[in-house]
Amino acid sequence: MKKSAKGIGLAIVGGGRVGLFRGEVAARHMAVEWIGLAEKNPARAKEVAAKIGADFVTADHRELIRRPEVTAAIIATDEHLHVDPIMAGVERGIPMLIEKPLATDLAQSARVLKAIERAKIDAVVGYTQRFRRKWLGAKEKVRTGALGDVTLVSSRAFMNRLVAIDNYQRTDAPETISPMVISGTHALDIVMWYLEKKTPVECYARSIDKVLGPLYRGIDATAGMIMFGDGTVYHLNISWALPVTWPGAVYSLEVGIVGTEGVLTIDDTHRDIVLAVSAPQSEGYHPDQRRLVDFMGSYPPGDMALGELRGPMREETDSWLNRVAMGHATQHATAAEAHNRLMLTKALDLSAKLKQAVPLPLQPQELGREWKYA
Ligand SMILES: NC(=O)c1ccc[n+]([C@@H]2O[C@H](COP(=O)([O-])OP(=O)(O)OC[C@H]3O[C@@H](n4cnc5c(N)ncnc54)[C@H](O)[C@@H]3O)[C@@H](O)[C@H]2O)c1
Repeated sequence: MKKSAKGIGLAIVGGGRVGLFRGEVAARHMAVEWIGLAEKNPARAKEVAAKIGADFVTADHRELIRRPEVTAAIIATDEHLHVDPIMAGVERGIPMLIEKPLATDLAQSARVLKAIERAKIDAVVGYTQRFRRKWLGAKEKVRTGALGDVTLVSSRAFMNRLVAIDNYQRTDAPETISPMVISGTHALDIVMWYLEKKTPVECYARSIDKVLGPLYRGIDATAGMIMFGDGTVYHLNISWALPVTWPGAVYSLEVGIVGTEGVLTIDDTHRDIVLAVSAPQSEGYHPDQRRLVDFMGSYPPGDMALGELRGPMREETDSWLNRVAMGHATQHATAAEAHNRLMLTKALDLSAKLKQAVPLPLQPQELGREWKYA
């Protein structure tokens, strides 16, 4: 059978950690014929452009996205800086792989989603964990009814506090950063993807701020419940304030799914490969001098081996490039799903703040207003 791929002219906006990972994968992909990079930091732009063999480099994402060679874009800027480059991509009408979230503000996220849908753009969002094999295996069992009707899901996400500190140090608006919105969203996406036929109707949550509150006006942990129209309950928690020495590099996750006819538990804590060393390591997420024990494989994008990224972000990027080049159907999160995840995480944060249940879906205009629901 003869197959033909469309050549891709790829724009990468944001050459940080993720822009580099994805750029290196793209540089190896057969269909990618041209790569342009927009990176605001000149030193970083130079370094990343050399590593990915960029054909064009600029500090201005608009200049890049206007280039005639560009046929698809990866938007990998900081969480709160996605909107402008996404809108530039919408204007050009190109398919996009966007890092989560669409926007950090719910009203902006709704606006971006509307623009994407109106322009009929194939825009997907980087919920990378959908590409880990264990989550895919579980998806298949839930989808094909092996568990009967799912009635209860529980997820526990434990992270050391390095990601939280990194996020709070980079912002002057700590109230926009929360463990649910930034990190809890990954577990939430997996579970909501499993429960995609069900409708969430209400949520309730409480937060704790004993460690990051005094230091950064931040939140340590949030525990909550999402209730569905058919009585199903999703019970979730995330703490991103564990000691720096906690060996899960970023994400240690346990999920249990109970149905009327079965149960499925997933251990994604990465305790299966434990590394202990006498001297600090040079690889991993923000290596810290105090961390000498690591659960290898817990860094969400994957691990570097023999000079290449191995793991879910590589599979996700390759799969998206195949989607663009060959029209393959893939399991990427849609922009509508990404907006839904932001809405749910904002609703959980609001519930924790108000210490009362919040009806779903949460409308953007309900945030920041005196809450009327009693
Ligand atoms: N899917 C995952 O597993 C995963 C993992 C880590 C991060 N992320 C997401 O990826 C995104 C990027 O995270 P990161 O860790 O790479 O951040 P980072 O800070 O390392 O990189 C962001 C880069 O974007 C650049 N930038 C910002 N605005 C720009 C603009 N308009 N034009 C050009 N360059 C611009 C910055 O200078 C910076 O170099 C975030 O949304 C984050 O949530 C996803």
